[in-house]
Amino acid sequence: MTDLRVFVTRKWPDEVEAALTSRFDTVLNDDEGSLDRSLIAHAMARYDVLCPTVGDTIDADLINEADRCRLIANYGVGFDHIDLDAAKAKGIAVTNTPGVLTDATADLAMTLLLMAARRTGEGERMVRSGEWSGWHPRHLVGSAVSGKTLGVVGFGRIGQALAKRAQCGFGMTILYHARHEVGGDIVRDTRARFCPDLAGLLEQSDFVSIHVPGGEGTRHLIDSDALAAMKPGSFLINTARGSVVDHDALAAGLRSGHPAGAGLDVFPEEPLVPPALLDLDNVVLLPHLGSADAETRRAMGMRALRNIEAFARGADLPDRVA
Ligand code: DGY
Repeated sequence: MTDLRVFVTRKWPDEVEAALTSRFDTVLNDDEGSLDRSLIAHAMARYDVLCPTVGDTIDADLINEADRCRLIANYGVGFDHIDLDAAKAKGIAVTNTPGVLTDATADLAMTLLLMAARRTGEGERMVRSGEWSGWHPRHLVGSAVSGKTLGVVGFGRIGQALAKRAQCGFGMTILYHARHEVGGDIVRDTRARFCPDLAGLLEQSDFVSIHVPGGEGTRHLIDSDALAAMKPGSFLINTARGSVVDHDALAAGLRSGHPAGAGLDVFPEEPLVPPALLDLDNVVLLPHLGSADAETRRAMGMRALRNIEAFARGADLPDRVA
């Protein structure tokens, strides 16, 4: 065991917690809930490594007061909840867990797309409430998915993995919007077409799925103008970050039937879900489940552990983002 002191803000999978505690002087959170900000400040003053999750905001005030912390090993790929500039200025390294949650998140985006298109949330609620009165030719008729056009906004690992599923599994036509055109196998395999102009993608897509990182650069990328540009009858899917979508505009749009529906796994201030969405039937709402399968959650922990081990050896950090 090294004398590196590690503080973990949430409960992690058992195997990862066991591996961490066998190697480092580790404090684990025994409860599933979030920690109070003052406890995180306390930890950053007394521990070398802080392991937060997407639900812990590690802002400049916390970082500036962190007397001992030298590594923030995030449990997750997205890091918009951590102030990277403040961390750099304070000499605190930041790592994430890329790659290991790509498939799980793409699976969930496809799940949401299917759920929204085929009205499965409405159907499930109807069955459970005892309101189902039997098969009917016009009952809960949704939209077909196979052969339709999917617009992927942000064409990194997760966007590409969704494109593969949608093209190879459902014969969908793939459009993508990104900062740069992408080449290689993914384009050959999916015949994905680059749309340099976001509005162009929105106008042509039956389904739009968001895969850009959160943060100021993408805040409200999907605003009322973007929603208005969407093709009539189309659907919006978001498994990236809630901040990317203007939810007031989305709720107003859904109420008027444009877009026709949405599937959301992420929200701007989780666990709060914008109240205007709660009574709408044409939106599927999930509690940030993108990476939530046992294999993925274990792999995320092991990836964070790999970064902490490299830090303990004084080696280059495999997944350094700051
Ligand atoms: C991520 O890894 O960024 C997911 O949103 C879960 O934390």
